[in-house]
Amino acid sequence: MTVRTRVEQPSDARATRLVHMAAFPGPDEADLVDALRRDPSWVDEFSVVAVAPVDQRELVVAHALLTRLRIGQGQGLALAPVAVAPEWQRKGVGRLVVRAALDAADAAGERLVVVLGDPDYYGRFGFTPASRHEVTGPFPVRDEYFQALPLSAYDGKPRGLCRYPAPFDGV
Ligand SMILES: CC(C)(COP(=O)(O)OP(=O)(O)OC[C@H]1O[C@@H](n2cnc3c(N)ncnc32)[C@H](O)[C@@H]1OP(=O)(O)O)[C@@H](O)C(=O)NCCC(=O)NCCS
Repeated sequence: MTVRTRVEQPSDARATRLVHMAAFPGPDEADLVDALRRDPSWVDEFSVVAVAPVDQRELVVAHALLTRLRIGQGQGLALAPVAVAPEWQRKGVGRLVVRAALDAADAAGERLVVVLGDPDYYGRFGFTPASRHEVTGPFPVRDEYFQALPLSAYDGKPRGLCRYPAPFDGV
């Protein structure tokens, strides 16, 4: 399989939306991505797509997004949403695109990424309960579902309550 990852380009936006529409039961995640595009929390280089060669074209088959969020007095990144087109799921593409987004954040000197999701899946990337890093989420979920991943530049901070960008309010 010759799937590769790269930073999403403006011309990918429509195809990225279709991936979210196909991966999730409704339009909420696709709408969230579009709202985040217009939000100050958006960071171009942390919007990563996986592309596959199909009929001499590049097809967007997955997307992973990191947006900036407040954590206590500091800031970090939120991983959300992640989507793989249904016919490409369970082939390692999700792992590839999430890993690429996390690597980009690490290379840029970011310190901490948080995610709300299945610990069985995100644990594979090194995420552990955010509470271990004195980071709390705004969601009423069991402790192990709100997770954090310290990157190379992590120095014990940021710590505190996460405040997600406004577009997450409606989700
Ligand atoms: C969840 C998702 C991103 C995973 O991507 P993927 O390319 O299918 O997964 P990968 O091939 O990288 O990894 C496969 C492994 O993860 C596990 N896995 C896949 N989806 C999982 C999930 N929702 N929860 C827990 N584990 C999951 C599989 O069991 C598999 O394990 P194995 O390697 O031991 O067989 C993808 O299936 C998807 O887009 N799902 C619909 C949208 C969604 O739920 N997004 C995540 C929430 S934002």
